[in-house]
Amino acid sequence: QRALRRLLSCPGTVAADLRREEQFSGSAETGSEDRIPKKRFSEVQEERREQAQRTVLIHCPNKISEKKFLQYLSQHGPVNSHFFYESFGLYAVVEFCQKESVASLQSVTRTPSRGAEAAIPFRSRYFSLKLRNPSSQPSEQSSVQCSNQSSPSSKKLFELLCCAESVDDQLTALLKTFQLTEENTKLRYLTCSLIEDIAAAYFPGCAVRPFGSSVNSFGKLGCDLDMFLDLDEIGNFSAQKASGNFLMEFQVKNVPSERIVTQKILSVIGECLDHFGPGCVGVQKILNARCPLVRFSHQASGFQCDLTTNNRIALKVLSCFILYGALDSRVRALVFSIRCWARVHSLTSSIPGAWITNFSLTMMVIFFLQRRSPPILPTLDSLKSLADAEDKCIIEGHNCTFVRDLNKIKPSGNTESLELLLKEFFEYFGNFAFNKNSINIRQGGEQNKPESSPLHIQNPFETSLNISKNVSQSQLQKFVELARESAWILHQEVKERQSSNQPWGLATLLLPSVANNISFVKKRKKPASERIKNLLESIKSSSTEHPTDTNGK
Ligand code: GTP
Ligand code: MG
Repeated sequence: QRALRRLLSCPGTVAADLRREEQFSGSAETGSEDRIPKKRFSEVQEERREQAQRTVLIHCPNKISEKKFLQYLSQHGPVNSHFFYESFGLYAVVEFCQKESVASLQSVTRTPSRGAEAAIPFRSRYFSLKLRNPSSQPSEQSSVQCSNQSSPSSKKLFELLCCAESVDDQLTALLKTFQLTEENTKLRYLTCSLIEDIAAAYFPGCAVRPFGSSVNSFGKLGCDLDMFLDLDEIGNFSAQKASGNFLMEFQVKNVPSERIVTQKILSVIGECLDHFGPGCVGVQKILNARCPLVRFSHQASGFQCDLTTNNRIALKVLSCFILYGALDSRVRALVFSIRCWARVHSLTSSIPGAWITNFSLTMMVIFFLQRRSPPILPTLDSLKSLADAEDKCIIEGHNCTFVRDLNKIKPSGNTESLELLLKEFFEYFGNFAFNKNSINIRQGGEQNKPESSPLHIQNPFETSLNISKNVSQSQLQKFVELARESAWILHQEVKERQSSNQPWGLATLLLPSVANNISFVKKRKKPASERIKNLLESIKSSSTEHPTDTNGK
């Protein structure tokens, strides 16, 4: 509860959703839990989806009067909220109070005539607003306030981190600066909703929902938008409820496997996005991957999108991450820092390859927090043992059951500071026996590797799979070396901290201008990875002899 309250003081997406969730589920303080029905993430998601269906995206002229713009739109019905943002032009996201307003606006919108080019007529909720007489618009009308949709510059990050008072504050500041904003979340749901309109032309009643880091509480501004085409409602056999002796079934085409169903559906949606999807460019159908997907850029929102379907286990991973992120505020702060650290040092990349993914790094942080004494996070097996009949979930033969009610989970008694945890994370993985052991958050213990991939991180729900099978020995080695060197730098820094304008703490590890510090340290002190490991061990043994307060300032 205490941890959740701390988390809820952050303005981020899921934090905001959870805040609403807490509001609906009541709080222990008011004792209102029994009176007010609980609101699950799926319900919050449904609300946001409905909100997105009442929302439109408008490409605006650069010079525009906000007042006149809103006056013009409100002819179609009251506007609930709106914001502007910039992405190769000025855009507005406008949420009407009623869905009918969107239809009204569409009814007065014309298809553009483009001179030599011919337009494919397609009515979407993505519009372009033109001024009848642009030259008559006074220049002061251009000053609309824009909401920021991208992560801060290195310079801003540098200033922010150097102004912080402790390493703990640095980690918290990083989280607050990089986490998704309310507006960015709205834009993500709106983009899903626009794609849903296109998919619904083939599959009426479908839903396109965000998943992955857009909604798992670990997403940072600029992260990709993973989408899930949900056809469950269509496949639902609710008609069985009908009375009488007859049972109706749809006539359908059958194919040999679920995988082929997925490929066929994504193939046709991919074609549609390519041919008719306004703003959808660079559409690639990657149908032979283990998890088939359609990848494209949504130009207006600036999101790189991955669309999948028939991927219910990924939704379970999503709920599991949301739960872990909400259990203790240190989880998100640590995950964000490690993700940023990995990105700065090119351990992760937006291009698929032999590198570690953010997904794997998140598992590593969760595992590390399960290994603390006392543990900060419970194992997935213990969450399973707390589950009741309502939580039971079996997908394709895999038991995906775990408790979903935060209140049933005992808060951790661990009070370690973020600074200590960051240092210990680097040390733990700098010394981890990757050659022998696998990482698995189900048991929360080091297990023997069942196969010979350099890095083995067990998929928590499909336990025979390794989520980091792609990682090469050299990438793993790079991770280990950087982890050792980062632990070393943080240990060194304890005494030398805050010499005015010098980067310190997390800044030393993160900023590109000082990311090279590590190679600088390398040149100056030639710290071979093994040497750092030994040095760290000696520091550790001396600090157990003379313990100092590591619980932050
Ligand atoms: P970002 O790097 O911020 O996009 O993090 P992410 O968590 O969104 O990762 P990504 O976009 O690579 O993948 C989206 C989701 O797909 C993840 O959250 C997982 O649920 C799932 N996923 C990604 N990689 C794997 C994998 O190797 N195995 C399994 N089972 N699921 C994966
Ligand atoms: Mg993603």
